Amino acid sequence: MRHVAVAALLTVAACKPPPDDRTSLPADAAERGKAVIERVSCGSCHAIPGVDWPRGGAGPSLEGFDDVGLIAGALPNTPGNLAAFVRDAPATKPGSTMPPMPITPAEAQDVAAYLYGMKDE
Ligand code: HEC
Repeated sequence: MRHVAVAALLTVAACKPPPDDRTSLPADAAERGKAVIERVSCGSCHAIPGVDWPRGGAGPSLEGFDDVGLIAGALPNTPGNLAAFVRDAPATKPGSTMPPMPITPAEAQDVAAYLYGMKDE
């Protein structure tokens, strides 16, 4: 009898989510991505939904970006390609006029999560 009770307790414990589970939710990544976008001023060249200022016009508007077929008309629109492009566009698409941005690979992934998740206003 005792053994059965112990086994049941262990099963319950194994089902509990790890305490830090929340930090890996996509919504958190998008929130961090937005902060990165504001910090390095992607908005000085792009109109970006959710980023009110600045709204520059040197690069294309990023509104409705999740529907774009090819990133900058050249790369398949996948999270990996997008993260690589926003960090170092000329290395990802030779000849791109978007400059490399001072962000880490992890920050670039967060930025990609924001660009895919944002809603047009
Ligand atoms: C100095 C101006 C400038 C800055 C700053 C800038 N970009 Fe760009 N961006 C451009 C230009 C110009 C293009 C078009 C590049 C091309 O076609 O190769 C572009 C293209 C893009 C594209 C592809 C858009 C499409 O419709 O395919 C994305 C996504 C993008 N930028 C995201 C960002 C993000 C995120 C940041 C900040 C981390 C950023 N950009 C900062 C100028 C800029």
